[in-house]
Amino acid sequence: MKVVAIIGCGRIANNAHLPALSKIENVRIKYACDLIEEKAKLAKEKFPKIENIITDYKVALNDKEIDGVYVLTPNYAHYTITMDALKAGKHVFCEKPITINYELSVEMAKEAEKQGLLLNIGVVNRYHKSVEMLREMVANGEFGNVYHVYCSFRSFRSIPGLGGAFTTKKESGGGVLIDWGVHFFDLIYYVLGGFNLKNITCDAYNEMAKDMKSYKYKDMWAEDTSNVETGTNDVDDFITGYIRTNKANISFNGAWAQNINKNEMFIDFLGDKGGARLAYGGKFVYWKGDTLEEIAPEYEIPSMFLCEDTDFINSMETGVKSRNYIDNVLETAKLLDGLYQSADKKEEIKL
Ligand SMILES: NC(=O)c1ccc[n+]([C@@H]2O[C@H](COP(=O)([O-])OP(=O)(O)OC[C@H]3O[C@@H](n4cnc5c(N)ncnc54)[C@H](O)[C@@H]3O)[C@@H](O)[C@H]2O)c1
Repeated sequence: MKVVAIIGCGRIANNAHLPALSKIENVRIKYACDLIEEKAKLAKEKFPKIENIITDYKVALNDKEIDGVYVLTPNYAHYTITMDALKAGKHVFCEKPITINYELSVEMAKEAEKQGLLLNIGVVNRYHKSVEMLREMVANGEFGNVYHVYCSFRSFRSIPGLGGAFTTKKESGGGVLIDWGVHFFDLIYYVLGGFNLKNITCDAYNEMAKDMKSYKYKDMWAEDTSNVETGTNDVDDFITGYIRTNKANISFNGAWAQNINKNEMFIDFLGDKGGARLAYGGKFVYWKGDTLEEIAPEYEIPSMFLCEDTDFINSMETGVKSRNYIDNVLETAKLLDGLYQSADKKEEIKL
């Protein structure tokens, strides 16, 4: 039996990790912590497995019974809470992105290594059935040489919490690239069996809500944190770029908002023997190059959050590092940082 604390009782806690942990038998949720006590209380009402609520995460860190903590706070708080937890001898599961930049991400990885503790990052798509299948197909040569990957993470109106933490660079690290791109690039990295970065170029735009009060939208996720009167919006709402690696090259477009009313969330894997389009979060279609056959496999998609959390709990039991241990995620943190640097300098960067 492992004992954990949840730090941050917002959307990802309520929609993903608390439902998953409630289903896993060999784990106790001793604490749910939120700076806003009401949010921790509401979580306890919804998830009876939570034993206590607290507003100071250090209470959990000082409790010898706690084996691991879940860091489910906004990006800017990932670094401090994770470092405190590792130094207190606790294993950590930290949501994506690792933190707001690469330099601090490397420090976090070093601390985990130094303490001999787990530090898993919430790159949950690695546990998606479609992603696991594509990774295996690439490894088995069913694509031949994967020479290019194109990805699109574009939406009509999806700026979250305008004026709040999501759109304030010093708190989030960036906009659509770090928030959505992080998942897409990690997924590509995983399917290709890793890659080394060569050179990259990127352009970032902040156009759709540069005057926050006149941004038109129908609904806004993270609405409760929006602040268009005195808040900040200094992050990318559209991003485009080109990445050269020692394997496939990658081109991409991402939009939190754009004046095209299409949600285009997909990844194309282009190989000389076969190609596939993966609908993000869903299934894929594969085309076989020599027969022109179109194959749309039928399969069940289990909850990727349940798989991710089960893996973390089991890793704590066995001490074996899993697929989303921080060392396996650092290359894409370096990529995100490099893309933002390229956009700032308006030039290509060599990594
Ligand atoms: N894996 C995914 O698909 C996915 C999806 C959504 C969000 N996320 C990530 O999860 C994290 C949280 O996102 P969210 O949408 O749940 O945000 P949220 O704003 O809904 O929730 C964050 C909560 O953390 C609390 N908090 C902040 N600082 C704290 C502290 N020091 N101690 C205790 N509580 C604190 C806030 O009060 C808030 O309730 C972000 O890093 C985000 O990128 C991941």
